[in-house]
Amino acid sequence: MSLLFLWSLSSSLTLSPSSTLATDSECVLLSGFDPGFVADGDFVIGGIFPLHYNQEMPDVNYTYQPTAVRCNGFDPRAFRWAQTMRLAVEEINQSEQLLPNHMLGYKIFDSCAYPLTGQRAALAMLNGLGQAHTHVCSGASPLLAVIGESGSAQSIVVSRILQPFKIPMISYFSSCACLGDRRKYPTFFRVIPNDDYQVKAMAQLLVRYDWRWVGVVRGDHEYGHFALQGLLRELKGTGVCVAYQEMIPLLYNQQRALEIIEVMRSSTARVVVVFSAEGEMTPFLKDYMAQNITGIQWVASEAWVTASLFTTSEYFPYLGGTIGFGIRQGQIPGLRDYLQTVNPRRYPSNPLVQQLWEALYGCSPSPSPSSTLIPPCSGQETLLEQHSAYMNTSSPRVAYNVYKAVYAIAHSLHNLLHCQAGAGPFHNRSCAHSTNVHPWQLQHYLQELAFYISGEEVNFDLKGDSIPYYDIINWQRGSGGNMEFINVGLFDGAKASGKELVIQEEKIVWAGHQSKLVVSVCSASCAPGSRKAVRRGEPLCCFDCVPCDSGKISNQTDSIDCTECPEDYWSNADGTMCIPKVVEFLSHDAMGIALTVIAVVGACLTVSILAVFLHHRTTPIVRVNNSELSFFILLSLTLCFLCALMFIGEPTSWSCMLRHTAFSITFSLCISCILSKTLVVLAAFTAARPGNNIMKWLGPKQQRVIIFSCTLVQVLICAAWLMAAPPYPSKNIQDQRSKIILECSVGSQLAFWCVLGYIGLLACLCFILAFLARKLPGNFNEAKFITFSMLIFCAVWISFIPAYVSSPGKYTVAVEIFAILASSYGLLFCLFAPKCYIILLKPEKNTKQHLMGNKK
Ligand code: TRP
Repeated sequence: MSLLFLWSLSSSLTLSPSSTLATDSECVLLSGFDPGFVADGDFVIGGIFPLHYNQEMPDVNYTYQPTAVRCNGFDPRAFRWAQTMRLAVEEINQSEQLLPNHMLGYKIFDSCAYPLTGQRAALAMLNGLGQAHTHVCSGASPLLAVIGESGSAQSIVVSRILQPFKIPMISYFSSCACLGDRRKYPTFFRVIPNDDYQVKAMAQLLVRYDWRWVGVVRGDHEYGHFALQGLLRELKGTGVCVAYQEMIPLLYNQQRALEIIEVMRSSTARVVVVFSAEGEMTPFLKDYMAQNITGIQWVASEAWVTASLFTTSEYFPYLGGTIGFGIRQGQIPGLRDYLQTVNPRRYPSNPLVQQLWEALYGCSPSPSPSSTLIPPCSGQETLLEQHSAYMNTSSPRVAYNVYKAVYAIAHSLHNLLHCQAGAGPFHNRSCAHSTNVHPWQLQHYLQELAFYISGEEVNFDLKGDSIPYYDIINWQRGSGGNMEFINVGLFDGAKASGKELVIQEEKIVWAGHQSKLVVSVCSASCAPGSRKAVRRGEPLCCFDCVPCDSGKISNQTDSIDCTECPEDYWSNADGTMCIPKVVEFLSHDAMGIALTVIAVVGACLTVSILAVFLHHRTTPIVRVNNSELSFFILLSLTLCFLCALMFIGEPTSWSCMLRHTAFSITFSLCISCILSKTLVVLAAFTAARPGNNIMKWLGPKQQRVIIFSCTLVQVLICAAWLMAAPPYPSKNIQDQRSKIILECSVGSQLAFWCVLGYIGLLACLCFILAFLARKLPGNFNEAKFITFSMLIFCAVWISFIPAYVSSPGKYTVAVEIFAILASSYGLLFCLFAPKCYIILLKPEKNTKQHLMGNKK
């Protein structure tokens, strides 16, 4: 395999500081790149770690030779990861079981957390260390596998470079879902779960705490991009909305950061999900804290949830309470002791160890001209726990991943070397050659791998992903005022869906050092009895609450719709329950009693008038007015009053039938009596004229016949009605939707109006006749009173019609009773009041002369 694509014939080229000086004929590296740590072995694995947070942006002005890339911000944490790789390799080399008789070597490079530098590291790893390094040309490959990188953006680049050479790589921290695409990254493996699981877990967390209005801030890299896309996908249909999505620029820009901070401050979303890493978070958080914003609940992704940089107390007021997903932790037995062996005396020429000392103690182990500002070290410095970023070995997460990755390679290599001849996985059941192992052969074994490390199973699925598992981490104040990462639960992707998230709520301290949960909603939830109404042009989480229409209910908070109550049910006042509809009919309530009293009073009055008439039946006024007819009228009027009582009370089939028939028959009786009386009056005066014997035809017998026959017609109509379609009690649910009105359905509308019409006809006839007779002489002109009474009668019943049709519920019946009573009273007063007045108060006028109109 030829990997020498960066070799060039050097003539006048001046190379970057690290490259070897070349003579004219020699082949040299165009641009060299020194590894941080190297160890030779039979099989060499590469390691790429972001030993620095960032780097100065390369100069793009090509009018002079670009200077070497300068990396800034030494990261002791990543240095620890690199040391973990070395430890693992050394452990394996000493192991009797794993790869006995074989030595593993390594080349560890710094990527400066920057894809381009990661790319250079990958190329440098492939190239070997220089032309003197014969290894390049002897074995099958100078590099068997690569452990790296941290950030997904770097891993993508590195994977693309390794891909043509089929060199497998195992990443310990690149979780981007994008790397799960086997077509694009066929040789990529990782010991960290795919972010697809993390966003799923995050969505579940947001739903669980009812954080329905959240902001998302992410870095400008594949990790941030794909995590945001994944989160949006997972949030779809959960009722959680994203209030804003902001991106911290790759090249930190304070103005842009302040804009983002302003968005965070002004938004009503109190929960912010951040997909970013500590490198880019640090300047952003500095600016955030300068703005003195508090009360934000941070939800951290695995990339920064255990970032040692934020453990200092200054962050506490702003970041305390942060909750997030940390990758699995594990035990690396010898790590603590191993890390302590690293010191400048042991590695006098290693610049990284020097920088570690500078970072940890603020002193320079070997005073050099570049670091004049830093005092020299005493040489007495010892590595203690307090240097947490480096020495924090209590719960290694990423370091543990590195450890696992090295062991994964070692185990696969072990399996490869212990292949049974003739039972190998390759062509013709062959095995790999132990002196000439090709990286793609190792890839096969990696894919098939399964082993246990401190009780945990390690294997890779077809996408190269590992088993999804996260710890839920909460940032709390430690005893020294610093931040502590407390494990408060877990997410186990292997569990049944919905059961993956296990949280010990009591352990959590929320943002603002409270045990109270932060509320983050766009609109407060709608109480039962109302429903959500989406605001136009706004996300689904922002809505108004509108109370349910009457007759509809919603019994849950946040209902989207109000449900209609069943037919016989109606909503209660709050709109939360369907309750049986109120059954309404005219009963003995206030109105019922009032009407009863009026009716009874009317009946009594009529009866007393009857008594008065009976008592004074011999007086002229009674006699002249045809006493028999008067008694009839009074009797029927009493019945009229009494039949009003029948309309009060719950309608039954009997009362319904009785109501209308009794009412119509008594009224017809009454009107027919008055009619015959009118006829008599008319006849009496006409008969007074000579030659007219009409009176003969209107004797008491004939009168009775008239009354009887007129009433009979009504009786027949009623009989027909009762037989054909009698009135029946019915439930009316249409007129008033909130009530059930118990009423008497007339059965046949035709019959009902016939009955009324017949009464009307009689009344009109009576009115016309009385009207004709009104001018007839006589001091006590009966016709005038009849006209008047009929006028009232008709007026009452004509006004009854619209009132009857339009009054709701039990008032329909009340109107009917009222009409009955009013017309009865009208008749009673018009016909009998004047007579009673004379009988009782003016007995002197109760003489025949006076009545006959003798004015003398
Ligand atoms: N899981 C992250 C990733 O895949 C972790 C990470 C490491 C990271 N370094 C980073 C994220 C730098 C953003 C920037 O990328």
